[in-house]
Amino acid sequence: MKKATFDIEASNYDQHFTDTKIGRIQRNRVWKYMRKLLAGKKQLKILELNCGTGEDAAFFAEKGHMVLATDLSPKMLEVANRKIWNKGLKYNVQTQTLDLRNPKLKRGEMYDVIFSNFGGLNCISKTELDQLSDVLSKHLLPKGSCVFVVMPKNTIVEKWFRKYKNQSDIFHKRNAQIPLKVNVSGELISTYFHSDDDLKSSFYKFQHIVTKPIGFIPSYFEHSNRYFLLNIFDKIATILKFNANTADHYLIHFQKK
Ligand SMILES: C[S@@+](CC[C@H](N)C(=O)[O-])C[C@H]1O[C@@H](n2cnc3c(N)ncnc32)[C@H](O)[C@@H]1O
Repeated sequence: MKKATFDIEASNYDQHFTDTKIGRIQRNRVWKYMRKLLAGKKQLKILELNCGTGEDAAFFAEKGHMVLATDLSPKMLEVANRKIWNKGLKYNVQTQTLDLRNPKLKRGEMYDVIFSNFGGLNCISKTELDQLSDVLSKHLLPKGSCVFVVMPKNTIVEKWFRKYKNQSDIFHKRNAQIPLKVNVSGELISTYFHSDDDLKSSFYKFQHIVTKPIGFIPSYFEHSNRYFLLNIFDKIATILKFNANTADHYLIHFQKK
């Protein structure tokens, strides 16, 4: 049987992203936002999409919330289960395979928060995003929140880098309707880049609360000799709230009306 995408990456994902300097800086910014959003709320039901290795599921569970952590990749879920078990959070987290392109959730199962971190939504097309939004609206409680962290089309640092490398054609492909094939541990993953307007149009039934940049440096710059300068740029751009559509990832928050 063909492996799910990201199965090959699963055992190295934390080393390649979660535990890198850039990965930690960006995730801490997402957590800062979520801490404020969840402050003072008692045990919430959280549906996590594309949970990967369970880093965020553990974060929510440690705050006492109940999480259904889902992903397409059984190997990612294996790593997530191990992490949750090792941290003693098994009571708060259940895991389940779920494909964003055809999400099957139990009828009548309702959530306070639906969360997707670090580009899971970039694995599906705009049409699939529209369909996902329809399904999610049926499983979110009134005034419930959807928080997504997404890769936009016009990442400014990527643009500079591709220009410098004479590869501007690769950058322009981020704007095309056809997916860009991104190499993840030797596997070519179809990747769709979405502007915040794309997300707003897919989630038009929801109220848009905020869009904010989460970080400006793509993680492949982790070992670059330009990291120091890029890091300064990242801090300035984040503090001055540069356009989220030029970030590496941005956070978008919707609320059910
Ligand atoms: C870049 S990782 C992000 C993982 C995690 N959310 C995090 O914050 O580290 C993208 C995740 O999306 C999952 N994914 C890719 N396509 C998917 C799909 N069609 N349905 C559900 N999950 C998918 C992958 O298996 C992977 O775990």
